[in-house]
Amino acid sequence: MNTLFLIFMTGLIHLVPAPVKTTLKEGVFTLNNSLKVYVAPQAKKTAADAAVYFFETIGPSMGINAVYTNTQPSGNVLIFELKDATEVPAEGYFLEVSPTCIIISASNGAGFFYGVQTLLQLLPPYVYEPVYHPDQDDPSLSCAVPCILIEDYPRFSHRGMMMDVSRQFYSVTYVKQYIDWMAKHKLNRFHWHLSDDNGWRLEIKKYPLLTEKGAWRGPGEVLATSYGHPGERYGGFYTQQEIKDIVTYAAKRHIEIIPEIDLPGHGKAATGSYPEILCNTSGEAELSIQGVSHNVWCATREENYKMLEDIIREMVSLFPSKYFHVGGDEVVTSQWSACSLCRDFMHSHNMSEPIELQSYFMGRMQKILKKFGKTMIGWDEVMEGGELDRKDVIIHAWQRVDKIKEATSKGYRVIAQPAAYCYLDMKQTIHERGLMWAAIIDLEKVYSLDPIKTPGLTPEEARLVMGVQGGLWAEMLDKPARIAEYQTYPRLCALAEVAWSPQENRVWEDFNKRLSQTHFERLYYMGINFRIPYPDAAYVNGYICARTDYPWMVIRYTCDGSEPDGRSPLYTGPISTDNPEKYLFASFYGNRIRSIVREVDLPYDRYQRPVTRVTGNVAIHPQTPYTVLEDNDFNTYLRVVKPLEEGQYILYTFESPVTAGRISVLTGLPGVDIDPADYAHVEYSADGLDFVPSGSEWKDGRCVFAPKGPVKAVKLCFDKGNMFLTSYIQDLRIDK
Ligand code: ACM
Ligand code: ZN
Repeated sequence: MNTLFLIFMTGLIHLVPAPVKTTLKEGVFTLNNSLKVYVAPQAKKTAADAAVYFFETIGPSMGINAVYTNTQPSGNVLIFELKDATEVPAEGYFLEVSPTCIIISASNGAGFFYGVQTLLQLLPPYVYEPVYHPDQDDPSLSCAVPCILIEDYPRFSHRGMMMDVSRQFYSVTYVKQYIDWMAKHKLNRFHWHLSDDNGWRLEIKKYPLLTEKGAWRGPGEVLATSYGHPGERYGGFYTQQEIKDIVTYAAKRHIEIIPEIDLPGHGKAATGSYPEILCNTSGEAELSIQGVSHNVWCATREENYKMLEDIIREMVSLFPSKYFHVGGDEVVTSQWSACSLCRDFMHSHNMSEPIELQSYFMGRMQKILKKFGKTMIGWDEVMEGGELDRKDVIIHAWQRVDKIKEATSKGYRVIAQPAAYCYLDMKQTIHERGLMWAAIIDLEKVYSLDPIKTPGLTPEEARLVMGVQGGLWAEMLDKPARIAEYQTYPRLCALAEVAWSPQENRVWEDFNKRLSQTHFERLYYMGINFRIPYPDAAYVNGYICARTDYPWMVIRYTCDGSEPDGRSPLYTGPISTDNPEKYLFASFYGNRIRSIVREVDLPYDRYQRPVTRVTGNVAIHPQTPYTVLEDNDFNTYLRVVKPLEEGQYILYTFESPVTAGRISVLTGLPGVDIDPADYAHVEYSADGLDFVPSGSEWKDGRCVFAPKGPVKAVKLCFDKGNMFLTSYIQDLRIDK
């Protein structure tokens, strides 16, 4: 058999994350159902789970089951061998494939597990799908494993991913699935953001209101309506039994779960459930950066520390990790300045700034955690306002890369999660869904991160960097379906390589090739709804020309207003048309994974920009007068600073009546679409006096309608039910 052909077929050189050292050899091992498994006696304790995982994965797809043997057979065997820790670093492994046997050797369970993960990547990608695949073109070839020697171990001991289950709630099944996908990428820490302003997700028996009240968002609840779920009671929580089940599931995959309850800010779910937690203030409170009021634990109410100790005690029985994350980010400290208890405390302790209370609060938490043998992790703001115990506090650097330097130079250990590289809730391109306050983060940007390359970091400081992780904040992950996966993959693949592979082995072009030529196929068979790039479609000299840089993608299109699907016409060459506005394009991986749908880029403005006057009766921010909606600049917006009420409106009146095929009335922040009006309808008028309904419904903060005849005015009318303090209104978009 031709080895090069095999390399191509098996994706041999397409391992993700890239291993430390790979030596290709002559020949193949043929994997078939006469395979035996021999776990050497000394390896029984450490390797058993990895062997089970291997056969659980390939059993359904290849029809090969585990047949264990107590004596080492001479051929056709998968061997697990224990090595001394001096020979293989923790979590490292050797994987040797020869024509007669496959040997995985490691010094601990994680090493065996990662050896198995790499072996799975030497098999055809379909092994990840729990469906029997007897009809591959050539079964004998598809089960041939190339002879190879791989020596591998991780660069960082902390290789993590954070999931925010407060803003969106994810089921037990989904969390497990998410964890399993992480494990397949050799990540080993699941940072579980279990509480925030938007939901408390963890059953605490002593404080049942935390989940009876604090796990639910919606009208009449203590927590504001969930973004994207107006009018609904939305939420959920994990019982202690479910938590234990997930922790066990993760541990089998060598993933340690680090729980986070976010304190003392981001605490609305707790303070809404138990208001006595709050400072004794009155009157208007400063809003947090996310627009939430009264979400800070009083820093000096002694009962709060008692309650927190009780909560931690219950958590300790659920989470064996030695690390507990207690937040510390974005605290509105003015609540403390306004509280007589906190003020008295500051006075008697010679504190001049409320930020010193933050340090005091964190110090108290660190001591509580220490009582239970836990080490505290806090977001990088916990460095402000005073010194914490450097030996016993880990800083989670998120705001900027230079926080890595700041923390390590103070002697703290650090987990790097710089937002501009690692916040996977950020947009991947300007056209895609997501936030962008930190950056637009494409795959290459994630891949470019090297936390040790932080400017000014000394070798000694670099040793304090425990590793790196991604963060998936969830407020905008309500739609479309499975957007959590779309945002996570393939960016997590890049992050996994940042965390695992030696820096000298990391080359973007090589990674991108391994990813697109083979790893995408694995992601597909894993069942992940991963992102693929969309095609570019331009209109030139009467033709639409679409293109993609990726030979593994096809482009499909429609011209009837529907979105392209796997049956839509294939784009095979320039399309002659006078109506490029009618066309929609998308790229497809097979017919199964679709990119976002895109319109054609036109060399001219697709919109009319009539002279418009805008009036209304909503509560506007002083810096955004109604005139911002008159400039036909689609980047400017009106900001509304009180919940929109029934009877309020925005009226767009044109100097001369406008004839248009389509008018779009849009709310939400332009380009991001967060904070739309949830309840509204649109009317229009031919004369500016008599208004008729637009005929199109209000959906996802917008109404797109086709007016019958010329339009003199468009009226955006708000209905009952809008709850958010802040919302945004955009300029009209009037098609030509
Ligand atoms: C954070 O993004 N507030 C940690
Ligand atoms: Zn207070």
